[in-house]
Amino acid sequence: MKTKTPSAKSGNQTIRSGRFDTGPDAVLETINASIGFDKRLYGQDIAGSKAHCAMLVATGILDRKDGEEILKGLERIEMEIEAGEFTFETALEDIHMNIEARLRELIGNAAGRLHTARSRNDQVATDFRLWVREAIDASGLALRELQAALIDRAEEHADTLLPGFTHLQAAQPVSFGHHLLAYVEMFGRDRGRLDDCRARLNESPLGAAALAGTSFPIDREMTAATLGFDRPMANSMDAVSDRDFALEFLAASAMAMTHLSRLAEEIVFWSSTPLGFVRLSDAFSTGSSIMPQKRNPDAAELVRGKAGRALGALSALLVVMKGLPLTYSKDMQEDKEPVFDTADTLLLCLAAMTGMVRDLEVNAERMRAAMDSGYTTATDLADWLVRVLGRSFREAHRITGEIVKLAEKQGMDLESLSLKEMQGIEPGITQAVFDVLGIERSVASRVSLGGTAPANVREAAEKARARFL
Ligand code: ARG
Repeated sequence: MKTKTPSAKSGNQTIRSGRFDTGPDAVLETINASIGFDKRLYGQDIAGSKAHCAMLVATGILDRKDGEEILKGLERIEMEIEAGEFTFETALEDIHMNIEARLRELIGNAAGRLHTARSRNDQVATDFRLWVREAIDASGLALRELQAALIDRAEEHADTLLPGFTHLQAAQPVSFGHHLLAYVEMFGRDRGRLDDCRARLNESPLGAAALAGTSFPIDREMTAATLGFDRPMANSMDAVSDRDFALEFLAASAMAMTHLSRLAEEIVFWSSTPLGFVRLSDAFSTGSSIMPQKRNPDAAELVRGKAGRALGALSALLVVMKGLPLTYSKDMQEDKEPVFDTADTLLLCLAAMTGMVRDLEVNAERMRAAMDSGYTTATDLADWLVRVLGRSFREAHRITGEIVKLAEKQGMDLESLSLKEMQGIEPGITQAVFDVLGIERSVASRVSLGGTAPANVREAAEKARARFL
């Protein structure tokens, strides 16, 4: 099965010339090539090359005329790629060699001078940092959009009540707006994690060369500034060999996807037939091929499902990196696909979630019905026994438990029990207890900081707007 047919571009002539007698085996060419995916780095690669070229001219390493030719050639290549007129060659391995080879076709020998004082090792590290930086900025904006949608809906539904769950058992009534604002906090922290990652990422590897630096009098401050980095990375070996910036991005994204997945799960649950708390808009519902009555929440299910890919990507790259000695090993070419896939997945899921949240139809009656006979104001009764009768909370808990048991036996909710029935269990109880047994009063009384009272929720939404938007 040995196929020794090097392609027309001769197995990356530029790299192999001089050292090798024959071209690479076709299988080597296939396993070695990254052009199929790293072509996405073309913009960053060209920006990095332009910065490097300008620096080589400024420091007198490259003469001005060659520098101008190179810059013009790079600009033309960028236009060709954007117009879809560029032919990417597997034989040329990766985006860096594809661009360099085309540059040679366009301007001849001067193209060979661009790689002075540079290696693909610092080149790819630079490109990738620039790409991840853009992905972070795009994800941050998309998270913000989702927060804006959640805040709008939270304000609209500050007074809409539903059971808050623990163990998926109706626990205490809460405002639907309060529930949505919980996710605004989570997505705010996700944005913070991306910001942290961006701050640490924003140093320039360019000029580290292969691993040891270079004997040419380069100006790393200049290329760092041109590319919008805060400073050059301090150690050349670190610069070409770590991918912690990619891992941090994957970790922050995995966290955000986990939050998205939980919200997606809630939407699936809320829109389920027995619950019917919400109804997804037609635009976000799918039909069944056999059951005409179905309105399936496919987008929510896919957001939940795609979280799996993001978690997998993080673990894949951690495993790739964990055994690698300094500095560069080709294993590291495996860094790109998980990052590209995760960035795409995160943006798609954020867009889908924002759409679902904006369109969601809320069924307040169904939410309300789920609280009746759920005894969700039992804690309010216990609190009343503490506050008014001076019982210890543990004592109050026991008394309330007995009252709930009685209500359950009679098939009624707490509010419907008579005063006499309650006094049978605790003689101190007075008519005033009915003030706290209603669901509206229960929710309205939760005015502690961060609590669910609708008045709180309206204020919290306003504050969230100021903090996040
Ligand atoms: N395509 C390579 C990558 O993505 C570029 C760096 C190649 N460096 C090398 N020493 N072979 O990692």
